[in-house]
Parts: sequence; C-alpha cells; structure tokens
Amino acid sequence: MDRYAVIGNPIEHSKSPWIHARFAEQTQQSLEYRAILVELDVFERSVTEFFDNGGKGLNITVPFKARAWAMADRHSEAARKAGAVNTLYRDSDGALTGENTDGTGLLRDLKQNHGAVLAEKRILLLGAGGAVKGVLANLIAESPSTIYIANRTVANAQALVDAVQSEVKIHAVHYDDIPTEAFDFIINGTSAGLQGELPKVHPSAVSTHTWCYDMIYGAGDTKFQAWSKSLLAAHAFDGLGMLVEQAAESFRIWRGYSPQTAPVIRQLRHLLAQS
Ligand code: ATR
Repeated sequence: MDRYAVIGNPIEHSKSPWIHARFAEQTQQSLEYRAILVELDVFERSVTEFFDNGGKGLNITVPFKARAWAMADRHSEAARKAGAVNTLYRDSDGALTGENTDGTGLLRDLKQNHGAVLAEKRILLLGAGGAVKGVLANLIAESPSTIYIANRTVANAQALVDAVQSEVKIHAVHYDDIPTEAFDFIINGTSAGLQGELPKVHPSAVSTHTWCYDMIYGAGDTKFQAWSKSLLAAHAFDGLGMLVEQAAESFRIWRGYSPQTAPVIRQLRHLLAQS
C-alpha cells in the first residue's frame, strides 16, 4: 500500500489524514496517510527515513516548511517563490522534490468555490509570516490593482515586498498607516486568531462590498470573521476551503488525480460544527 503522511509539531489536530482518506475513497485507491509528530531536532532525519523506507509523499506543516524547502533537491516555481515547501515526493530520478500548494489552495477556494474576481481589485493582506509569503505570488498573478501588506513589524512586510518582482503596486505598511478607503479584499494571514486576538485594522478598511477571508478556521466563526460580519462585509470566509483545496492539489501532484473538494469541505464543516 502506498504510504503518505503529514509531518509537523504539533500535529494531533491535523485534519489532513481525514481529508486524504476521503480523497482516496472517491478514487477507490488504497493508500495510507498518517500524521507524524516529529521533534524539532530530528526533522531532516525523519523525512529521509520516511522516503528511504518507501514512503511516497509527505505534507509538511508548521514549523517545518522552510526546512523542507532547504532539504529539497528540486523546487516547483510556487515553492521557489514561497521559500517554503508543504508537499514533498521523490521524482522518478530520485530527486527530493518540493512543491507549495497553499497559494493554489487559497486561489481555488476564492475563485472556484466562491466566485471571486481579483483582477484590478485592491487587496489588503494582514501579516507577513509564512502564511502570507506562501500565497503572495499567486495573488500577484491575478493582477490586482494594488496590494497592501500590513504587519506589526513593518520590516517583515517590507522584506516580502523587496523579494518580489511585480507589475502590481505592493506597499508594506503598519496597521496605523493602512489607507482609510475600503478594500475589495482583506485576507488575514496573521496567527493572531490562534491566540483569540484580532489584527488592529481600522473598521474603515471594510465596507459592504469587501470580501474578508481568514486563512485560519475553527468550529465557529474566527475572531476576524466575526469582526468582518459585525462591519457588514460582503463576505466573511474562513480557511477551511483553502485547507481542503491545498490538500487536493497535493493529492493531484502525488496521484495524478484531482479529487472533488466540495463534498469534502461540506463534510468537514459538519464534523467541525459537531466537535
Ligand atoms: P505563519 O507561518 O503562520 O505565518 P509566522 O511566520 O510566525 O507564522 O507569522 C505570524 C504572523 O502573524 C506575523 O505576521 C505576525 O506579526 P509580526 O511579524 O509583527 O510578529 C502576525 N501576528 C501574530 N500575532 C499577532 C497579533 N496579535 N496581531 C497582529 N499580528 C499578529
């Protein structure tokens, strides 16, 4: 049986084994997908052993995505631009190959699942960590008119701006310096919500035409979703769809088959609501 796994620390709450089991059922493929908790000092050894023992593919999650990038012999363009890898496999010539499916996952959720059009739109990105870095190139590729990256530590946002070559105007700002004209899209890529906090964005950034998207998700609304709804944003999505879509893209890379994501998103939403 082909073996896959997700590696992270912590990992016990990962939904990836459940998601990949649904994808495998859809295709009647028999495969195993486990969650593996790896201690910080043995990440590289664990990856090497997994593939040496015949493992077919790995997903990599927090805090190992940059180390997975460093380990890979070869990178997809998305992985190169993101400087992070969430999907690993050995290519036919044995090269450890790193991909990043997070940006594809976000864009599929926004465009295909929710019908968003980003061309010529004003986008505000919150945060300048791995989550934002992983999706920035995909957002630029949609040709928005402007992207603002707001972060507490402006230098981190500026570093992202400096690293990209883009026709799109991109600005790094502190939360206090976000323009007051409402945005078309606000995408929260901070980890603030994980501590029950909210990035300090002035409410004037949101109007009734603004699409708000939180890259994290939970059983109920995230803090950012609740805030967006209280300001009557046009939409307030969480990142559950992105999670399933990035998994589907990994599955496609490994198995050559694109699973149906809509029923999996529905079922996972239902499971979360019950938990
Ligand atoms: P990840 O890989 O999940 O993006 P990260 O690289 O640690 O994690 O980045 C976390 C991001 O959330 C950063 O942009 C961080 O801002 P700073 O660079 O200023 O630290 C942001 N963040 C975390 N807690 C926050 C909070 N309470 N309010 C606003 N931003 C927060």
